[in-house]
Amino acid sequence: MQSNRNSQTGEQLTRTDAMVNIFKMKVNEKQKQILETLRDYGDYLSGETLSERLGISRVSIWKHIRSLKEDGYVIDASARGYRLVSSPDLMLPYEFPGLEERIHYFSEIGSTMDAARELARKGAKEGTIVIAEVQAHGRGRLSREWFSPKGGIYFTMILRPRINPVYAPRVNLMISIAVAATIKKLFGIKAGLKWPNDVLIEGRKVCGILAEMNAEMDVVNFVNVGIGINANTSIPKFEETATSLKEALGREISRKGFLSVLLGEIEQWQPRLMKDDLLEEWKKFSMTLNREVKVIAPGEEIVGRAIDLDTTGALIIKQSNGSMKKAIAGDCIHLRKKVPETDKGAATFQ
Ligand code: BTN
Repeated sequence: MQSNRNSQTGEQLTRTDAMVNIFKMKVNEKQKQILETLRDYGDYLSGETLSERLGISRVSIWKHIRSLKEDGYVIDASARGYRLVSSPDLMLPYEFPGLEERIHYFSEIGSTMDAARELARKGAKEGTIVIAEVQAHGRGRLSREWFSPKGGIYFTMILRPRINPVYAPRVNLMISIAVAATIKKLFGIKAGLKWPNDVLIEGRKVCGILAEMNAEMDVVNFVNVGIGINANTSIPKFEETATSLKEALGREISRKGFLSVLLGEIEQWQPRLMKDDLLEEWKKFSMTLNREVKVIAPGEEIVGRAIDLDTTGALIIKQSNGSMKKAIAGDCIHLRKKVPETDKGAATFQ
């Protein structure tokens, strides 16, 4: 048993190290074609036409339709044939046209981070994505657990940026900007960013980001970024530090719609990873800058006012004695309300 904290809610959790059942959802090529055909046609299409187009028997068509219905697709069958009425909100690869080849989809997994690491080590291409509907052992930052029930969005993307490893924290900034931009674009809500990589709505965490890097001294082999979004998950009333999109909006959202926009945002930001406007954009969303903070970093605690980011994405903190300190990683606690942007005075760095 391992005792741990839930990094969304701060709750104390216990977790067994028992083996987890991992099911890979096999994407059936014929089912994908049936869906595409019915979607494009938009009306009843006879079993005979489907069987001719796909080159399989009508009985096989019927079996695939039955299996799609079990997955939640509503397909009306009548004397005129089959008509796709609605699709379930599953993040199946064929819901992301053009990206199917890059997506590894799991209905349930231990952690998408583990699958992505294995794929990256085997040479998976930049942009490979591991998606899960549910994670049995979702991982958060600082060895915490990431509670990953049905209704959330959980995925890990393999990136291979050609940067010096010291700039890797910029990847976190980039992903958090993409998440905040997606929330704004889809729902018109202003999400805030808490250094290093939490996305907040009204001060409560809605998304966490976990990055795992494999690098040599001056070369990054891969950075796997895991993104967990509380989408349609219910958050207990007493919970003050976490929220979900459903709680914030008062309705459920389309997870596949959200993910599709988010992947587009990430793609837009990727070429700008090392550009100055990345830092400027992060600052626009920042809830941390100009605020009193405590950063619990490996081996030390830094308390002071967060005044800026350096080019690597480290947080620059002005301590009460006037000296500056940089936090490269750690847990950042916002101590009190944002203070006006004054007194950014230059001082020495430690
Ligand atoms: C945090 O502690 O804030 C980071 C949470 C990251 C959770 C995501 S969910 C998808 C990916 N798989 C995991 O096991 N963790 C990350």
